[in-house]
Amino acid sequence: MHASGAAAVSPETFKGVFSRLASGVAVIGFEREGRKHGFTATSLTPVSVEPPMALFCVDNSNESHQHLKLYTPVGISILSKVQSELSSRFAGKAAVERYTGVATIEHTPGIPLLSGAIACMEGTITRLVPAGDHTIFLCQVSWAQAEPEGAPLLYFSRQYHQLASLPQPGAKGPPSRSQQGMTRSLVAVIASAAPSVRTAAAIQYTCRRAGEVAPGLRTDIVNLNEMPLPLCDGRKPTDIVSVTRVVEKIGAASSVLLATPIYRGTYSAALKNLLDWLPLESLEGKRVGLIASGSTPHHYLMIDMALRPLLAWFNAVLIPGSIYLTKDDISHDGPSETTAANLDALAQALVAEAPRWAHRTRGARPRLRPRRTPGRHRRRHTPWSAP
Ligand SMILES: Cc1cc2nc3c(=O)[nH]c(=O)nc-3n(C[C@H](O)[C@H](O)[C@H](O)COP(=O)(O)O)c2cc1C
Repeated sequence: MHASGAAAVSPETFKGVFSRLASGVAVIGFEREGRKHGFTATSLTPVSVEPPMALFCVDNSNESHQHLKLYTPVGISILSKVQSELSSRFAGKAAVERYTGVATIEHTPGIPLLSGAIACMEGTITRLVPAGDHTIFLCQVSWAQAEPEGAPLLYFSRQYHQLASLPQPGAKGPPSRSQQGMTRSLVAVIASAAPSVRTAAAIQYTCRRAGEVAPGLRTDIVNLNEMPLPLCDGRKPTDIVSVTRVVEKIGAASSVLLATPIYRGTYSAALKNLLDWLPLESLEGKRVGLIASGSTPHHYLMIDMALRPLLAWFNAVLIPGSIYLTKDDISHDGPSETTAANLDALAQALVAEAPRWAHRTRGARPRLRPRRTPGRHRRRHTPWSAP
């Protein structure tokens, strides 16, 4: 023991011990002389629920330490498993503006939050407590929001990790979302660049029915007419706030409903553009329902001939049956009796628990050639073999 009573623990030993404490990763952002600044922190800790307070610790030698004062507003973003590059960027010493090219959300002007974070908070520093070579910053939280789904980035043993989802003992497949106590969610996309009547009415009706069939279901309608996405031009989805929002919503959903008007005999450019932005895995193993609407019945085969092959590439679990609507089937006032029955069936299929076989498709690429069938059942001609 030292004369002070403290055990002789070297900085290496102390840091080594804490390297064994796995933690989530946050970026704390604020405005510094009119410009955004932020840094990576694992020291974020909840302190009080009433009133909501959190703390984080800052090394006294860090640049942020000079700028964080009493009553400085801060934005705290808890990083998702795919944001390790952002964590490194906000911890790096490179002389770049850390926020350059980074998609941010400003819930309150002047308080930067990172797009794609799994949870965000805003608050004000209410107390500074000197603590050795660090300072503890207490922060009163004024606004907070957690995404219902999404996995965290973890920091352990000086490396980034992700949570491994272990199967339940004795379970044949991964636990279902309801077994995990997770809310099921349906994201429905109105893939029309122009204001739509039939497409929107079909989506609204189906979402309402799905909510009735599955109480507690979260439904979210993305209207590409109200939230147009820029043309997919090779930028990363995370570079653009609107794209990030939509991509993340769809990625976090358990089922997806896509509705497109017919333009020039096929699905809309707005839908293709959305699919161009979507990472392949965002629809993988998910139930996806399809609706198309046209001014005439001529293009009723579009779903089967054009849309299903396109979505098969995403390894989505496509709900059988095509719903093709004309003005006789649905209007502002709602669907006809037959259409209502078809949309009801679609709503039920969208929220049903995923069948076991659906899990097996996860991670596998689509098989382009069928297995050879032995003996006399062997197929000679396959209309869908790879080119
Ligand atoms: C995973 C991780 C967690 C970190 N946690 C903290 C922390 O809680 N407090 C802190 O002061 N620095 C922490 N750092 C280091 C700072 O992010 C880093 O020193 C940064 O460059 C400080 O930026 P600034 O000088 O602009 O304030 C962490 C770094 C990493 C990689």
